[in-house]
Formats: sequence, C-alpha cells, structure tokens
Amino acid sequence: MQGYRAALLRFDDADRVQRLDDGLMLVDAGRIVAVGDHAELAPRHPGVPVHDWRGRTIAPGFVDVHVHFPQLDVIASPAEGLLPWLERYTFPQEARFADPEHAARVAPAFLDELLRNGTTTAMTYCTSHPVSVDAFFAACEARGLRMIAGKCLMDRHSPDPVRDDTARSLADSQALIERWHGRGRLGYALTPRFAPSCTDAQMHGAAELARAYPGTWIQTHVAENLDEIAWVRELYPDARSYLDVYDRFGLLRERSMYAHCIHLDATDRARLADSGAAAAVCPTSNLFLGSGLFDFAAAADAGLAWGLASDVGGGTSFSPFRTMLAAYEIARLRGVTLAPGELWLRHTLGAARALGLGDRIGNLAPGHEADFIVLDDRATPLLARRTAAALRLDEWLFAMIVLADDRAVMAAHAAGKDVTPQAGG
Ligand code: GUN
Ligand code: ZN
Repeated sequence: MQGYRAALLRFDDADRVQRLDDGLMLVDAGRIVAVGDHAELAPRHPGVPVHDWRGRTIAPGFVDVHVHFPQLDVIASPAEGLLPWLERYTFPQEARFADPEHAARVAPAFLDELLRNGTTTAMTYCTSHPVSVDAFFAACEARGLRMIAGKCLMDRHSPDPVRDDTARSLADSQALIERWHGRGRLGYALTPRFAPSCTDAQMHGAAELARAYPGTWIQTHVAENLDEIAWVRELYPDARSYLDVYDRFGLLRERSMYAHCIHLDATDRARLADSGAAAAVCPTSNLFLGSGLFDFAAAADAGLAWGLASDVGGGTSFSPFRTMLAAYEIARLRGVTLAPGELWLRHTLGAARALGLGDRIGNLAPGHEADFIVLDDRATPLLARRTAAALRLDEWLFAMIVLADDRAVMAAHAAGKDVTPQAGG
C-alpha cells in the first residue's frame, strides 16, 4: 500500500467536482482503496509510506476518446478542409507505418506526449498496417497503460500504400483482437476509417466482428465536414443520413465512438443516444480544419453521451487544457456556457463513461484503477497569480483550463505506477 498526500480533485455521486484541500489517497495493487481527508484517514493507516505532494493537486488522469497515434507528425499541417488534408499529409505519413521499425519508434514518442500532458487513457486509431497495432499495444503494455486501439479499415478511395484488402483486413482485425483484446489493460476497437473509405463488404465484416466480439469497441468518424457529407450522399443515395449508413450496417451499439458528430440532425442524435453509442467531441481539430461547431445544446437535449478528444493530428494540441478551452469557446459561439466542472468531467469520468469504463477510470474513487496526475498550479507566473486569486473551486478550474498546459503536469501514474516520461527522453 502507498499513500499520496495532496489536494485531491474528484467527482462526487452527483458528478460535482470536489477538492479535498489536504487529502490522502491510498493505493494498493494498482487500485485506489481509500480517498479522504488526511487528518481523518492517516491515523487509520499507520506505517503506510506516504508520497508528500502537499501544495500540489492530484487529479484523475485525462481520457482522450479519439486520437490518431500515427498522426504524431501530421500535427500543424494546414489544408483547405478535411479531404485535402487527408490526401496531402495524412495518408503519406500513415504509409510510413508499413515499416514496423518506424511504428516502434513513433509509439513510445506518442505515449510520452500523452503522458506529459496528463492523458493516461486514449482511444486511438492505428494505421491500416497490423504492425502499427502491434507496435502501439506493445508500447502500452510495457508501461501498464489502459488504452484502446485498432487497425484502420480502408479498402477503397485510398492510395495504395494505405489501402487494405477486404478479406485480409478482416482476418487481420480478428487476429489482432485475439492477440490483444483484454490482454492486461488493453482493448481492441474495430476501426472503419469512415464510410467513404470502406466497401460494403468491409463494413459488413466489421459489424460481424463487432457482434462476434461484443466486448470490443468500434470507432469511426461521422458528419465532420460538408464535402465529406456530400461525398457520402453520392455513395449512399438511399441512406437517410451519414449516420444512417453506419446504422444500416449494424455499427451503432454500446462501446461505439463516433468522432465529430457536427452536422447531425435530431433523428441522428436520438438514434446515437438510443443505441448507447457516444460522440467524441474534437474542438481543436474542428477549428483547425474548419469543420464546424459541435452543438452542445442539441447533444444535451438528446441525452447523447460525449467525451472530449484531441483528434491529433487534425487537432492542434495534446493538452487536455487546450481541448477543454476550445470546447468552451465553441460552446460560447453557439450561445452555450459550459461550466468548468463539466469540461473537466467530459475529459475524465464522463469520457471514461462514454467508453463504458466509468467504473474503472476517470475518478479518484475507491475501486478505480490508480491512473492519476499531479498538477502544479504555479507552473507559470501567470498561472500562479491567477490560481492564487481564485476564491472558489470553479474559478481555480477555469484558471487551469485557460492558462495551464503540459508545464503544469508534474507526474503521471498508471495503475499506481509512476509513468511520467523523463524530460528530454
Ligand atoms: N476522417 C477520415 N479520416 C480522418 C482522419 O484521419 N482525421 C479526421 N479528423 N477525420 C477523418
Ligand atoms: Zn479522427
């Protein structure tokens, strides 16, 4: 058993953020066993070694519900929208992952970036090359991280080096599920890239695998960009909507994550909510690619589950603080004011719930896996100034959302183990 003494940020039973100013968290065998006030808890556990983080804040590790590990080197590539961006930068970068050595070099660098920024769980795309999945999961396994990933399915409308073969792609996906799904903390996601890049046979095959392995996840993109939507309409003139294309193939279910969900109608949102699917909201990506503004009010009306996501390399930052701020700004442009506690929830416990993992990660609560971060609210002079002046917790959360970045993340732990990347490493 190990103890951690610090200010503790957690969610109560009503999802309100709380801070225990002088808290103690006890961790045993990778799980949180108790969280409370130090004065009350410490005397009941004499002899437990305590890491003294007084003056710092321990918070749940962030959960990024949609990101592309092979797009680490695509970040900061400007284009006139999604489709030219894919052609010009993304597919050429992803082609490099046919080489297992390249994949094995990028995977640890990607994990370093996530962890430096305080993200301890992500649901990520790999490329169409199975070796990219092996490289990613092997790197996660070595660090004991809870991660979800899958081989990208793309058997049409894609350049040769990234296009896969229908039958082979499904056999490869199945072999990867058998190899990795449920191994340690790893989970597999069936990953049809998006409707335009998958033949009907590939979509059917993905849905069949999703039924055969109900514990797996599904991830894809929907209704991100107007040119993309027009293309889907040409390809599927009989479908009621873009979302309906996935629905007809049987790809809407619990543990399915639909990235973007910008240009949906009320029927789509109701259908997503009914099916138990969730939306990955990717605000920095949507701004960078000019895709559109997620409709937070309509999502709330529909009871649609959603979590926040970086969508790197369409997204511009690994920092959950940047993502939360961009979500706040987009909501403001649509006349909605998101509270800082809700933003934080949607990148931790709410995101975990959207993945069906709300009972395991996303909170500092007994029974949860000990995935947590240590935050320094004095990491920069302005952050120190503004957080010191914050009278209420809401104000402090807002100051962090607006002013903090990776410099405020001092340490990251996964299943109780220190996984903080070494500086310069
Ligand atoms: N749609 C299909 N592929 C992609 C991708 O790699 N990124 C984003 N943002 N949208 C996509
Ligand atoms: Zn994406």
